Amino acid sequence: MKLWHYLLGGIALVFLGIQFVPNELPPVGTNNPGDIIQSGLVSQDVAALLKKSCYDCHSNESIYPWYSHIAPSSWLLAKDIREGREELNFSEWDNYDMMKKLGLLDDISIAVGEGEMPLGIYLLMHPSAKIDDAQRELIIAWAEDAMDLLVEEDE
Ligand code: HEC
Repeated sequence: MKLWHYLLGGIALVFLGIQFVPNELPPVGTNNPGDIIQSGLVSQDVAALLKKSCYDCHSNESIYPWYSHIAPSSWLLAKDIREGREELNFSEWDNYDMMKKLGLLDDISIAVGEGEMPLGIYLLMHPSAKIDDAQRELIIAWAEDAMDLLVEEDE
């Protein structure tokens, strides 16, 4: 056997081996009465954008692609979704208090405005989730209006 046979065999073994490392994908739930889209705070345009570009990581309705079942991509994906939901879960919107909502809306306008979100690595695999300048402006304007609306409703 040539050296590269051993090398390839080694890589294949490692790949097989890591498939047995336990990895839990965050659960999916499609019944979310507290979702932001049900809150009256979101227009249809914005709802479609959030669903397209954010919901895989920031809601309970993540759609898992085939490579979410294969290590090591499965590890990365599980971590992003876990951390994404922890920071902001649109499905749990009703459970956030006023200050939390305002803080999140502000974070959304900053994260989207600075092009931090949606995450770059995600866009590599989901080019259709990319947002253009007009869509970016739409999300920012929406987040700012929503903050005003929340404050007015509270008065
Ligand atoms: C591939 C998964 C993924 C997608 C898609 C995604 N996010 Fe995130 N998001 C994360 C993760 C992971 C974090 C926490 C770590 C961090 O801040 O980078 C986060 C953090 C955030 C935060 C918290 C503040 C901050 O900047 O850290 C906001 C707000 C946010 N995302 C908004 C959005 C919005 C709005 C979209 C859609 C336009 C979106 N994200 C799309 C994974 C994602």
